[in-house]
Amino acid sequence: MDWRKDSLELLDQRKIPKSKEYIQCKSLEEVIHAIKEMIVRGAPAIALSGLFGIVLYLKSLSKKPEYSELKAKLDELLASRPTAVNLRLALQSFQTIISSENFSKLSLNDLILDAENFALNEFSKDLETNISIARNGMEIFKNKNAPLEFITHCNTGAIATAGVGTAIGVFRALKSENIPFHVYVDETRPYLQGSRLTAWELMEENISCTILADNMAGWLMNEKNIDAVIVGADRIASNGDTANKIGTYSLAILAKEHNVPFYVAASATSFDFKIKSGKEIKIEMRDETELTQYSFLKNSQGKNLIEEGIFSPIGARAINPSFDITPAKYITGIITERGVISPVSENLIQSMMSKTF
Ligand code: MRU
Repeated sequence: MDWRKDSLELLDQRKIPKSKEYIQCKSLEEVIHAIKEMIVRGAPAIALSGLFGIVLYLKSLSKKPEYSELKAKLDELLASRPTAVNLRLALQSFQTIISSENFSKLSLNDLILDAENFALNEFSKDLETNISIARNGMEIFKNKNAPLEFITHCNTGAIATAGVGTAIGVFRALKSENIPFHVYVDETRPYLQGSRLTAWELMEENISCTILADNMAGWLMNEKNIDAVIVGADRIASNGDTANKIGTYSLAILAKEHNVPFYVAASATSFDFKIKSGKEIKIEMRDETELTQYSFLKNSQGKNLIEEGIFSPIGARAINPSFDITPAKYITGIITERGVISPVSENLIQSMMSKTF
């Protein structure tokens, strides 16, 4: 993503790998549309786009909004994708800067400046955390017998974050250390973030990879010596239960059964200390047609623009939970910018995350 002061340029992720096209969002409404339609996706990228969307909203005004008007816009933005916590935490921090007491003292110009500085600062922080996560993850594997073999799920790379990515960042760091390895990429049904986006990103980086259908992971773990599964996170509860792309939970159970270490790579912005366990996480349910049709392009009325590629009988019903919860007991470690939390326990999470640097 590229902040252009009066617009936010986003890579249209729906069009990858067929083409690399960018769209310009000139209003908060266009950013919300981009988030809902997964033009931009991935927890950190959603949060950063949302923050720039708020700047666009403030810049579009001729007079300072009422606090309640601004709050309503933040709530509308927050509802665009409910599962990932990054956007909520970012908006909460923004609200502490422009709290109702401060708000009366700020001019529209002050609000714009504060919002823009906040968004740019969050963007740079994400760049830095990505690098630390990548380095901490690489340290786990650098002395193991190479060539290493990994499985990953969904897309956790540069297009899902501001920087090198989280799980994919670890692969980038291994590559920069010239450590030989191979990545098996779950295709990640139904939206195919693995086969469309992760395979594309890894291939652009010349990282050796192979796509597999999600239901082949058990077979693969039986056949090969997989060194680890590394995935990202959309929200991590106080006890370490992790919400991530649908299919992560099944992969974690398979990993446990085959004694394959299962790592989550995520930054402090993925932890939701307001909730005790994953049971409190609301899972986003998405459109049934994401399962029944091959089409990621919709018009503004929500109608698919591509008619071909129907997988199922017309009218067939489908269920589409976009995320699932992996209980902490299946997670070997959480790779964060502050270090690796392993074993995953509420105490260790607390002590690592309350460290000041
Ligand atoms: O529905 P998506 O594509 O936004 O889901 C993304 C994921 O589940 C990622 O694994 C997660 O957001 C981490 S991205 C660093």
